[in-house]
Amino acid sequence: MYKCAIVLAAGEGKRMKSETPKTLHKVCGKEMINHVIDTLKKCEVEDIDVVIGKGAEKVKEGTKDRNVVYSVQDKQLGTGHAVMCAEEFLKGKKGTVAIFVGDGPLITEETVNKLLNYHNEGSFSATILTSIMDNPAKYGRIIRNSNNEVEKIVEFKDCNETEAKVKEINSGMYCFDIEELLSALSNLNNNNNQGEYYLTDVIEILKGKEKKIGAVDVPVEEITAVNSKGELAIAERIMRKRINEKHMENGVILIDPDNVYINCDIQIGKDTIIYPNNFIEGKTVIKDNCIIYPGCRINDSKIEEDVTIQSSVIIESSIGKNTTVGPFAYIRPQSVIGNKVKIGDFVEIKKSTIGDGTKISHLTYIGDAEVGEKCNFGCGTVVVNYDGVHKNKTIIGNNAFIGCNTNLVSPVEVEDDTYIAAGSTITEKVPKNSLAIARARQVNKENWVKKNK
Ligand code: UD1
Ligand code: CA
Repeated sequence: MYKCAIVLAAGEGKRMKSETPKTLHKVCGKEMINHVIDTLKKCEVEDIDVVIGKGAEKVKEGTKDRNVVYSVQDKQLGTGHAVMCAEEFLKGKKGTVAIFVGDGPLITEETVNKLLNYHNEGSFSATILTSIMDNPAKYGRIIRNSNNEVEKIVEFKDCNETEAKVKEINSGMYCFDIEELLSALSNLNNNNNQGEYYLTDVIEILKGKEKKIGAVDVPVEEITAVNSKGELAIAERIMRKRINEKHMENGVILIDPDNVYINCDIQIGKDTIIYPNNFIEGKTVIKDNCIIYPGCRINDSKIEEDVTIQSSVIIESSIGKNTTVGPFAYIRPQSVIGNKVKIGDFVEIKKSTIGDGTKISHLTYIGDAEVGEKCNFGCGTVVVNYDGVHKNKTIIGNNAFIGCNTNLVSPVEVEDDTYIAAGSTITEKVPKNSLAIARARQVNKENWVKKNK
C-alpha cells in the first residue's frame, strides 16, 4: 500500500511572539517540523508534502535536507483549505495519506505505525487519532452515533452544550484514503463560526457517503501541540524525559535525569556517568565509561572511551581514550585531542591536534598547531598564532618540554626531544635534541635600592 504524508505548517503561530516561524522552534535541539518529518520517514512514508505559508522561505530553508516537497497556502483559510492547497501533490495517487501538524513534535513512530496499520487493515476511508481529555478545552469534539461509530468532528467554537461536554477530542492527526479525501475536499464549505474551511468536516462528508471512519486512541502527551513558549518548554520536558530514559535503558548512568540536557540524535555508551547540568548537543557521540562532571557543554564532538571531562566546553572536536579535560577548558572547533592527554584548567585549544600522552596542565593557549606525543607544556604557554593579519601554524614534535610562560611566535617549529627554558619567546626553529633559551639574562644591580632611596 502506497503511503504519503502532508504536514501542515502554514499557520502564523502568533502566540509564540517570535520572528521565527512556529514550526522551526526547536525541541531538544531539533526543529519541531523536523521531528514530525523524521518520525514519518521512520514509518516508511514514501513522499512528504509540507504545506507552507507564513514564513514559507524560512520553513523551506529549515527543512531543506529532509527531501520533502512543498505546497504553498498563501492565505490561511483553515486546515481544510491547507489540504486543498496540496491537491497537486495528491492528484493521481492511490493509497493512504497521513496528515500531521508541524507544531506537534511529540508524536511517536509507534503511534504513527499503529494509525497506519489500523487504517489499512480495517479498510477505513478516514482514521482519526483521538484522545480522552478531562478538560478538552479548545479541541474539536469527536461525535459518535448510537452504534458508537464516529459520525463527525465538531470544532469547540461550533459545539452545542451536549457536544461541548464530550471528552473525546480530535488530535488533528489522521489517515485518509487519498481518492476519498480528494472527492470530499471538493464539497467543503466555510459556513461555520470561524468562516474557515475545516479539514474536520471531511469526516461528516465521508460518513454521509456511508464510508467507514476509524479512530485510534493516542496518549494525550503525544498530540500536545505547541502554540506558545510555555508549551514549547512543556514539549521540551516531555521529549527530554524520553531521551534520557532511552539512554538509561542503554546503560548510561544519569545521576539526576531531570537536570541533564541531551539533544536528540546523540549516542552515549554504557556505564558513562553524566552528572547534572550538562548540555550535550549536535551529533555528539560519547563512548563507554566516560565521566562527565557538572557544567559541560559538548557540541558536535566525539568522545572516546574512559574520558573524564569537568566543567568544560567542547565544540566540533574529538577527544581520545583515557584523556582528561578541565576543569574550565575550552576546546574549539577542529581540534583533535589524542589518547591519554591531559588538558587541564584554563586551557584553550583551537584548531589543533595534540598527540598521545601530551600534558597541557594549566593556563595555556594553543591555536593552529600540530603537537606531537608526550610533550609537556608548562603553565602559561601561549601559541602566538595571529600576527594581526594571518593565522600562522606552529609545529611541535614529540617529547618537547616547553617551560612555563613560553611564547611560541608562529609560524615556528619545535623539533623532537627538545627543551625550552621558562619565559622564552621562541621565534625560530628549535632543532632536535637542543635546549632553547630566548630571554634576557638576569642582571642584579647590587645596593640599587639603598642608593636610590
Ligand atoms: C485543529 C482541528 C481541531 C483539533 C486541533 C488539534 C480543524 C478545523 N480543527 O484545530 O479539531 O482538535 O487542531 O490541535 O482542523 N494550518 C494551516 N493553514 C491554515 C490553518 C491551519 O497550515 O489555514 C495549520 C497550522 O499551522 C497548524 C495546524 O494546521 O499546524 C492546525 O491548525 P490550528 O489553527 O492550530 O487548528 P486548531 O484550531 O487548533
Ligand atoms: Ca492548534
